[in-house]
Amino acid sequence: MMDTKKTVHDAWSSRFAFILAATGSAVGLGNIWKFPYITGENGGGAFVIVYLLCVMLIGIPIMIAETMLGRRSQRNPIETMELLTEEAGADKNWHYLGWMGIIAGLLILSYYSVIAGWASAYVLKAFTGSFFDADAAAIKGIFDDFVGSPVQLIFWHSLFMLATMLIVVRGVNKGLEKAVQFLMPSLFVLLLLLVGYAMTTGSYFQGLHFLFTPDFSKLTSNSVLTAMGHAFFTLSLGMGAIMVYGSYLPKGISIAKTAFLIAGADTVVALLAGIAIFPIVFANNLHPDSGPGLIFQTLPIAFGAMTGGWLMGILFFVMLVVAALTSSISLIEPAVAWLVESKGFSREKACVWSGLATWLLGLGTVFSFNVWSNVKIFDRSIFQLLDYLTANLMLPIGGFCIAIFAGWIMHRQHSEDELNMPAGLAYPVWKLLISYVAPASVFFVFLHVIGVL
Ligand code: TRP
Repeated sequence: MMDTKKTVHDAWSSRFAFILAATGSAVGLGNIWKFPYITGENGGGAFVIVYLLCVMLIGIPIMIAETMLGRRSQRNPIETMELLTEEAGADKNWHYLGWMGIIAGLLILSYYSVIAGWASAYVLKAFTGSFFDADAAAIKGIFDDFVGSPVQLIFWHSLFMLATMLIVVRGVNKGLEKAVQFLMPSLFVLLLLLVGYAMTTGSYFQGLHFLFTPDFSKLTSNSVLTAMGHAFFTLSLGMGAIMVYGSYLPKGISIAKTAFLIAGADTVVALLAGIAIFPIVFANNLHPDSGPGLIFQTLPIAFGAMTGGWLMGILFFVMLVVAALTSSISLIEPAVAWLVESKGFSREKACVWSGLATWLLGLGTVFSFNVWSNVKIFDRSIFQLLDYLTANLMLPIGGFCIAIFAGWIMHRQHSEDELNMPAGLAYPVWKLLISYVAPASVFFVFLHVIGVL
């Protein structure tokens, strides 16, 4: 079955391989770059609690549902929706769900690639010793100079897109699978070492306090939306990425167990990143709400100051780039799989077209940090707008629809068969979460944001 499919994941064939691929997709810039800075912008502890609640009550049930839909149809997201709609005898409008996912993936990748480009550039900066003994002001200077240069950003964005396309065009081979197997645990160890450094800054407890002591007065309805949107973003949910990966999952493997493992690993990485970063923020009188530059303005201080920091800096940014690559391939894969399977494109042609479109779109994000920094649409820069549109709107809407489809449209017998959970409470609990809790939560957060509630 696997061999007849023209997709990148044909090499992944066991449960462990699926966990690796899906964890690779989930763990990325979302955990290490985005989670800390949006936590900083939204006041800390209370935001983290809402995020964790969203992961448990909305994210995990939807991850189970999305994997299940993919595995049942064994096709790309658009065909999955076509096939399962037919199976359930439901309205054809469900097809649009697959479409929205493909578009959301490309939109996300367009800015994801720009930020991954920053991480790539920082590998070089770490290598040439730019951070050596640099104080917070010097590190900020390096960052500001860098993002102020469209030429540099375009160069690194292009490089990252190229790397993504090369992997996707070739398919994921044993080599990458091995690399991920080794790099993921290494990233984890490096984060632990950074947490160790954070303990020596003298502001460790201030950092922990910021992250874990909730002050609910700091929560606005928009920060609740951001927390919920991030739960989707960080778990790669709501646009068909996990659906595509699920379509390569052999039958008979427990979907629920794997979802827990993936969400657990993803959450631990995000929390570790936060624990490593905020003490450095406070120790250097930086501001938690410094925005997307936060990790680039904090971690280099640690690398510049600690023994072995030169090597650690290089390794850290290399791993961040790899973590971003294993995520970016899942952002473009639904589009490529659809072009190949449904439109008869060769894999090469599909990669080139979707890659080129994404690259072009990414220029908007590049310029929003420099020459177009004054261009505001709905009060947001192009980067902020793309981020808001995808993470806060498209993914939750996609997730909402997936929940409704899995909970209400698909026949109970079919989901019960596909999930094959042990007798007892597991299935009814999931069914309750996916039919009521998850969709109602998304709905209420939206009502709040538009001011109805
Ligand atoms: N989860 C990845 C991260 O945290 C980003 C990502 C990959 C993603 N695939 C996705 C986000 C699909 C939403 C949908 O970096």
